[in-house]
Amino acid sequence: MTPKPYTHRDAVPYRPLDWTGVQPPVFAPGSVPAHVAIVMDGNGRWANRRGLSRVEGHKAGESALLDVVAGAIQAGVTHLSVYAFSTENWSRSPDEVRFLMGFNRDVLHRRRDQLNEWDVRVRWAGRRPRLWGSVVKELQHAERLTQHNRTLTLTMCVNYGGRVELVDAMRGIADDVAAGRLKPSAVTEKLIGRRLYVPDMPDVDLFVRSSGEQRTSNFLLWESAYAEYVFLDTLWPDFSREHLWRAIDLYQSRDRRFGGAVDKPGPTA
Ligand code: IPE
Ligand code: IPE
Ligand code: MG
Repeated sequence: MTPKPYTHRDAVPYRPLDWTGVQPPVFAPGSVPAHVAIVMDGNGRWANRRGLSRVEGHKAGESALLDVVAGAIQAGVTHLSVYAFSTENWSRSPDEVRFLMGFNRDVLHRRRDQLNEWDVRVRWAGRRPRLWGSVVKELQHAERLTQHNRTLTLTMCVNYGGRVELVDAMRGIADDVAAGRLKPSAVTEKLIGRRLYVPDMPDVDLFVRSSGEQRTSNFLLWESAYAEYVFLDTLWPDFSREHLWRAIDLYQSRDRRFGGAVDKPGPTA
């Protein structure tokens, strides 16, 4: 059952986590990625293939996001970061940018109670300048409302870019060094990590992109240094929790070595 897209700011009725009735596969304990990052891509193509305008694809992507959040909780994922608007997306037509700003604001507004009900903690990662004040207000409202929730941390990456995140971190560090508050020798990987938009965000374990594109498009560059990448052909509006579970399944077949190596003599080496 696909809920119809909403075009207003009213609250929507609550759904139980398993409203679709599909249950996740039994994943081995400890084998589920703690942090999944998703590039929600393919909305425009989904709409254009149906003879619709691109914004209809964005609208259709809303229920995919809710379904994937529910599926992440069912699977035992504790951190989910989703790319909703990149610092490069300002280059789209003024109409599409305007739509995306209003849409992000409205999705946060009408879905925050549902997310709160599911014990989801909402966070925002992104750059303040240029972002609509009303979007920042909704992000902050959702952050405040859900700050004590612990089942899943959902980081909404809005006006986010991996490179500007590093630029902003480096500027803060440079300011502290110039003012004598920080020694250059104290600049470590750990310190840089603490200067990012969400300082306590764990490293990404699984990086998923929908729509068949195989690139990062500047998403969570620092945080994904050792992520496993899974690219699925499905366009975002057709994406569901079952696609997320397939990505987790592929993740579990990978051998994460983190630069280490061990002898495993035999035909499977
Ligand atoms: C992703 O879908 C949503 C955003 C970037 C906001 P696209 O709008 O990029 O859709 P395609 O990739 O053009 O199909
Ligand atoms: C990445 O998708 C940004 C989001 C999903 C928000 P894009 O569609 O903007 O990326 P490119 O242009 O294909 O690299
Ligand atoms: Mg795209």
